[in-house]
Amino acid sequence: MKIAVLTGGGDCPGLNAVIRAVVRRGEQHGLEVMGVREGWRGLMDPPLHFRLTREATSGILHLGGTILGTSRTNPFKKPGGAEMVVRNLSALNVGAVVAIGGEDTLGVATKLHQMGVNVVGVPKTIDNDLSGTDLTFGFETAVQIATDAIDRLHSTAESHNRVIVCEVMGRHAGWIATHSGIAGGADVILIPEKPIDIDRVCEHIMRRHRTRGVNFSIVVVAEGAKLGGGESKASERLDEFGHIRLGGIGQQIAELIEKRTGYETRSTVLGHIQRGGTPTAFDRVLGTRFGVHAADMVAKQEWGKMAALRGTLIASVPLAEATAKLKTVDDAFFAVAEVFFG
Ligand code: F6P
Repeated sequence: MKIAVLTGGGDCPGLNAVIRAVVRRGEQHGLEVMGVREGWRGLMDPPLHFRLTREATSGILHLGGTILGTSRTNPFKKPGGAEMVVRNLSALNVGAVVAIGGEDTLGVATKLHQMGVNVVGVPKTIDNDLSGTDLTFGFETAVQIATDAIDRLHSTAESHNRVIVCEVMGRHAGWIATHSGIAGGADVILIPEKPIDIDRVCEHIMRRHRTRGVNFSIVVVAEGAKLGGGESKASERLDEFGHIRLGGIGQQIAELIEKRTGYETRSTVLGHIQRGGTPTAFDRVLGTRFGVHAADMVAKQEWGKMAALRGTLIASVPLAEATAKLKTVDDAFFAVAEVFFG
């Protein structure tokens, strides 16, 4: 059978590890693998694809980004787009699609499956907000990058007696902020799940400076966190899935903290640094396990399912379950972070 592999949505460290594993395991199952360029866009007109072999995927395990390219193209947003994808798959004689992506890419996969396409999913997002799996690959790398940055911000904040606000990624869920904040010893962590109470934030910081004998603090904020119920958007531009381009909450928070506390406050935005570059060993292993499992799912014809981490094992879960609702930070976990606020 010929299968198509694509990567959609924001890129993520570990994508190449998954692609390599699908090809290597797929060849063992006698599958011919076709790489689709730029996500779902590559299955629309004209289709963009090339043959993926063991040789073509050699030496990519440690590389960031994706050799296939990616996009946020949503075929369901173009008139006749989904039908075009189905037609092209048939014209190319593709028997199944391995879609590597987050909620949007896998949401498209779910709908195509309902239209009769043989689909298998692999959960990708640095935000770690996909349901059905304990972790997505790429998340651990992003947390490590953010933690390294927070460590560096600590020493300069301390030297200058400053408050530093570090803005990390996390559109709907504060997983990166909470994990890197705990690991980096942040004094306050702000996440999309909890509207920001700026008075409380300032109280924490002032209490810390008054009672702990220190003159610096670190605040970690997820880019999707909202101030007092307001919006944290910095742009009106939307992508095809209707997402606003985020960024800017860190600077807003920094200005408010400085005004209310009188402490000099600066902000740093980590942005795409968290998504680029080489994956950690953990994400290379997780991506490899997901890729091998996805090829096995194709061999077993487990259509409409996604490879998932459940505890220490890799399992197959329904795509519909994975895309039904986002996995957000739970109160019990956030309570661990809160022990160290202020
Ligand atoms: O893929 C998830 C994510 O990293 C979000 O945290 C972020 O809001 C978004 O992608 C930004 O993506 P882009 O810059 O590609 O629009």
